[in-house]
Amino acid sequence: MENLANIIALANKAKNRAISPLFNDPSRVEKMSVTCADIFLDYSKQNIIESELTALVDWANHAGLSEKITQMFNGVKINRTENRAVLHTILRASEQDKKTTLGREIASEVIATEQKMAGIVDDVYQGKRLSLSGQKFTDVLAIGIGGSYYGIKVGLSALKPYQNPELDVHVLANVDGGAVQEKLNQLNAETTLVVVISKTFTTQETLLNAQTVKAWMLASQVTEDIIAQQWLAVSTNIDAATQFGIAKDNILPMWDWVGGRFSLWSAVGLPLALAIGNDNFSAIKRGANTMDQHFLNAPLSDNMPVLLALLGIWNRNGLGYSSLAILPYDHSLRSLPGYLQQTDMESNGKSVSIQGEKLEWKTAPVVFGQEGTNGQHAFMQLMHQSEDIIPCDFIVAMQSQTDLAKHHNVLVANCFAQSEALMQGKTLEQATKDLVSQGVTREEAATLAPHKVMKGNTPSNTLLINKLTPKTLGALLALYEHKIFVQGALWQLNSFDQWGVELGKTLSHQVLVAMAGEAPAGLSDSTLSLINHYKKENQ
Ligand code: F6P
Repeated sequence: MENLANIIALANKAKNRAISPLFNDPSRVEKMSVTCADIFLDYSKQNIIESELTALVDWANHAGLSEKITQMFNGVKINRTENRAVLHTILRASEQDKKTTLGREIASEVIATEQKMAGIVDDVYQGKRLSLSGQKFTDVLAIGIGGSYYGIKVGLSALKPYQNPELDVHVLANVDGGAVQEKLNQLNAETTLVVVISKTFTTQETLLNAQTVKAWMLASQVTEDIIAQQWLAVSTNIDAATQFGIAKDNILPMWDWVGGRFSLWSAVGLPLALAIGNDNFSAIKRGANTMDQHFLNAPLSDNMPVLLALLGIWNRNGLGYSSLAILPYDHSLRSLPGYLQQTDMESNGKSVSIQGEKLEWKTAPVVFGQEGTNGQHAFMQLMHQSEDIIPCDFIVAMQSQTDLAKHHNVLVANCFAQSEALMQGKTLEQATKDLVSQGVTREEAATLAPHKVMKGNTPSNTLLINKLTPKTLGALLALYEHKIFVQGALWQLNSFDQWGVELGKTLSHQVLVAMAGEAPAGLSDSTLSLINHYKKENQ
């Protein structure tokens, strides 16, 4: 029976294998590509052969992956440490599926919330929901961080062509006063609708940002009515949101069975729905649901999220690569790497099994990246010439969102060239030959050529999106959600809690106490010294 140890042993034989010669099989690309929801995945540049892929799929089968997928979709409480189901998928399913999975009562709450959300968008668009001074809203300010921010940010960056030109939607996440001031400088309190998004309504950054924005707004209109009229909240913590001063009828619920980093599909998506309209927001959910159906029904060997997950485990645990570069060759997807850093590293950046035992294998890779072609002028040098092999996910649209065809040709050409160059590399012999052919003397070439060698053999996936639309964006986000679920399931960890963020939060409160007066016990001399430096500058 396949298990991860067997997979690692199998991969050890592949470690020194060159990828390029694998293309001697003329059918390799055909066999190592799959299409779903207007997304084409070419994984033929991975360092893997069919028998190894079969072993991975066999392992997934023996690990009961299909059952685990079904359990998640059916609402089994797989988030064992918080005793919760994981049901972000139901938010983009049909009403019938909602009723079947959630039961009629909760399903009706979810449906009512969706309708309320859509109603808010319609009323703002039609001027039925006005500011306190009776004006149409010109701006929306979404205050939230992590999962209460990243999904909205990705959507706003990705779907500019779909946005309502009469309503400017802003996001505020960082507690840094610079971020707050930058937003307030752009806004008119009289015509700004504020949406505070916090699943717990206890997040330090979000609450301080909300307090500051509230004070700013009250300074312009000295009546609390402006908060009642122009503030909305999205949270599971209705009491805390009400205590903050937000009218109960302006609070949209979310449920504990939707993880923060998986919550765009809930009322957390309200700022994005306000930006692009209800139809486009529904299209995002339809795209995600298309990927859900593929994930539920496609055989594991032809299942896009499962393949991405297994290839990631092959690279991480088998070939020993510790990072993953997310390289969207698309300015509109520039926020995707940051979004996936949370979705991937906050889900699977763990070292204890779901049973609480120390894991014997590595888990989530370090995820990084930025839009191409910018990355080619930042970290690609390392990717080509350091000893480290860093697998890449290239993502590029076949049709541009603009009419600048020449630019799109160059963008796409660079995307394809980078995956080819990372795989092919350049040997010392090739580097020398190139130099001599350029007229460099053999002596000079002998000196320079070693500096021009590129290791190659870097594996990559290339995802071709037909065109970046609400539907394909939804499918893309769902693809990665499911990939990350599969990896967590096979690594036997809980992808849906995030206890690792607690210590930092606790210590930040202790540091604040020390900044205000007596330092609590337990802080290191280094931190105490840093605090004293800060206090000297801010007395
Ligand atoms: O990053 C830690 C975290 O708890 C995330 O999981 C969550 O998305 C974010 O903080 C914000 O939490 P909340 O939505 O409760 O403000």
